[in-house]
This record gives sequence, structure tokens and C-alpha cells, in this order.
Amino acid sequence: MADTKKLLNDAKAVLKNNDHGCFTAPAGDLYPHQWLWDSCFIAIGLRHTNIDRAKAELKSLLRGQWSNGMLPNMIFSEDVLYTQDRNVWRSHLSISSPSDASTTGITQPPMLAEAVVQVGKKLKKAERRTWYADMLPAIIAYHQWLYRDRDPKESGLVLQLHPYETGLDSTPPWLDQLHKHHRPWWATIIEKSNLVSVVNLVRRDTRHVPPGQRMDNMDALLYYDVIRKLRSKHYDSKAMLRKSAFAIEDVSFNSIFVRANQHLTDMAEFIGRTLPEDLVERMDKSKLAIEQLWDSYSKQYYSKNHTTGRLIRVPSIGTLMPLYSGTISKERANHLVAMLHSKDFFNTDYPVASVPVSAKEFSPLRYWQGPAWLNTNWLIADGLNRYGFTSEASVIRKKSLELVEEHGCYEYFSPIDGSPAGAKNFSWTAALAIDFLQTKTK
Ligand code: GLC
Repeated sequence: MADTKKLLNDAKAVLKNNDHGCFTAPAGDLYPHQWLWDSCFIAIGLRHTNIDRAKAELKSLLRGQWSNGMLPNMIFSEDVLYTQDRNVWRSHLSISSPSDASTTGITQPPMLAEAVVQVGKKLKKAERRTWYADMLPAIIAYHQWLYRDRDPKESGLVLQLHPYETGLDSTPPWLDQLHKHHRPWWATIIEKSNLVSVVNLVRRDTRHVPPGQRMDNMDALLYYDVIRKLRSKHYDSKAMLRKSAFAIEDVSFNSIFVRANQHLTDMAEFIGRTLPEDLVERMDKSKLAIEQLWDSYSKQYYSKNHTTGRLIRVPSIGTLMPLYSGTISKERANHLVAMLHSKDFFNTDYPVASVPVSAKEFSPLRYWQGPAWLNTNWLIADGLNRYGFTSEASVIRKKSLELVEEHGCYEYFSPIDGSPAGAKNFSWTAALAIDFLQTKTK
């Protein structure tokens, strides 16, 4: 590592520039709002440089919490510039939405418990107790909502209703399902009349990032259609499930949820609080639930279509995420590590590719269809460490830092040659580089 001081200062400057007072935007113009899992990763970095700011980052997420417990994936900026963004969602249509904040009506991976614990690690015991006691009610309500609204079969796996809920927005298994799902008549007309490029007029991302690094217009339209349907049901999961078959038990989301449940249990124990019995029962069930996503033929984990009960055998980084859950056997973890070492899957100069390199869907610079991202690297490295694969974890950490040092805090990078892509000065890249810098010698 040539110049860690410079790297640290650059990363701190990115976070400072994106700081909006109580929350940090993911990236200036492209992502001006607050995002759920972004703020969690950001706090994980901020805890090393400004612990109070790290706490404030997480607390500010609670201003968006719905009365039913849901934490939305976005809390919108109130700036008049973004009226259109707020209008797409119109969260006030739901009686559960907060009256003093505009949000979306869907969630994102439940990273809050992890972030609260990571911040807690930096606090003395008494302060940590207060911190956990402060944050626990919101996390409990959130996990209860996930079970109540998103696990109707009580299988231990929770379902997602929009690709955005996975945080891996354009990941191939979800695109595959979306393409097989009912397509609205108006989308077909737009496609047939070659009007798809008109979509660019309302897309902010392609104004800031080359279109080849984002999802294509037709997919963006179909994503909008899912939002429209959710909105028409006022974001009521049960009503939505009655209407639509588009529901997926995502392997990444569920791996993060299972880990979050463990953190929740540990935090409650630390402060001597008893968790609601029904929640404990459901969390116990979830411990083994990831195994429902194992495909013994290909020896991989996949997401599952909630309606048909079938695994979606489309390759993606999701396959590796059960490493982070911490609940799979060492034998299965070994299979996943073999994939990390295999040139057909994830063994590239700049790991970890968001899609295996030999897959037909692989595209090195396109969003979640190939590039390496620092947040998934953090999750995988964390899981590898806990399974004892410390050298693999340290390669991921070292290569992540190399990417940032060489190119700056970009949103994502080509796993083949490290070329930077997506938004510049991206907050979680900066925050997780700070965290990797602190832990690199462990
Ligand atoms: C992109 C990512 C998503 C992230 C958001 C804000 O949409 O796919 O995971 O939360 O940007 O950074």
C-alpha cells in the first residue's frame, strides 16, 4: 500500500462532500437522497473517523421508518428539484408511511443491525449499552415487519417485490424473472415503435453515467411498471401478493437477514433484554432456511421464485452471499470458496465480480452484471473471515484498496482490469475503503 494517508484523506473528503448534515448521500448529483443500506455501509466507515456522525447516520434512517416497522430503501430529499422522484412513489398513499418524510414503499437489505453492532464495537461498554437500547426497538419492529409481511408461508425466508429491494438492482436472476413475467401492453407498444430511447428523458442515471454502464431502457421501463403496481396497492404486501406472481426469495437479502437476526440476538443479550417470543421462533426457523436455496446438482445457492417454489438457476454473486449468513456448513462454504478460486467463476484480477465471468450475462462494466463493488466485497470478506478463510478475505480487502487507490472512490470497477465505472466519489466505496484500511492487518 503506497500511500495510505492519501487514500484515507481522499475517502474522508468524499464523505464530507456528500454529507447533508444528518445523512450522507451516496453520490452528489446521481444519488441525492438517503438510501438504507448505503447509510449502513457509510456508518461502518464513519465509525473510524467520527463516531457521533456514524451514530447520527444510522439514527437518521429511523425518520423514514413506517408505523408498520418497514424501513424504506430511500428517504427523499425535500428539495423542489426532486418532486418527480417523490411523485413516482407517493408514499403518503399508505397509511403506514411517515407524515413528515417522503419515502419509497419498499425496503433494501437489512444491514441496520450489522451497522449498529459495528458502531457499537467502537464504544465503551456503558455507551454501547445505551446505543443498543436506543436502536433495538426500531430493528425489532423492522424484523417483525419482514416476517409478518414478507414471509407469508412462514418458511423462514422473506420475499422481495422489486429488484431494488435486493440492492443488486440489475442482477441477472431478477432480470430473468422480470422478462418472464407479464409485460404491460404499453411497454410492448413503446418497444415495437422504437420509442424506448425516449425513456432517457426521464432517467437521471444515464445523464451522469455512460448508458453502457447502466441497465437498458426496456428494463428500466419494466422496473417502473413494478413500482406502478406496488403503488396501486398502496405498498400493501398482502394485496400485492394476491395480484402478482412477481415475488422472489432473494439469496443475498436472506443471507443478510439471517446475519442481522444473529446481531439482534447478541445485542438484546448484551443489554439484558428479552426479545418477543414469536420473533425468536421465526428467527430460529430462519437459521436453517438458507439451505432451501441450495441446489445440490450444481452445488450452488440460488434465489427462489416465491410463487412457483423453483430455484432461479441464473448465475450471480448471490451464490456467494450465504458465506456472510454464517449459517451454512463448512463443507458448503468450501464449495463457495472453490468458486472464488475458479477462473470460470469469480477468480479475476480484481474480485469479486457481480456475475461469474463465464456466464453469458457477464458484462465487466455494466452495473450489477459483472463489476466488482466494495460493499459486496466487504460482506464476502467478512463471511470468509468468520469461516476461517482469512487469506481469501485478505486478498479481497487488498484488491479493493488497490482499486480505490489507483482510480478513486468510483461506484464499481471492472473485475478484469480494474477500470472504474458508475458514479464518481461514491460514499460507500469511500467508507468501506476506510474500514478496509483499519482492518487490513488483522
Ligand atoms: C444503486 C445501487 C443500490 C444503491 C443505490 C444508491 O441503485 O444498485 O444498491 O443503494 O444505487 O447508492
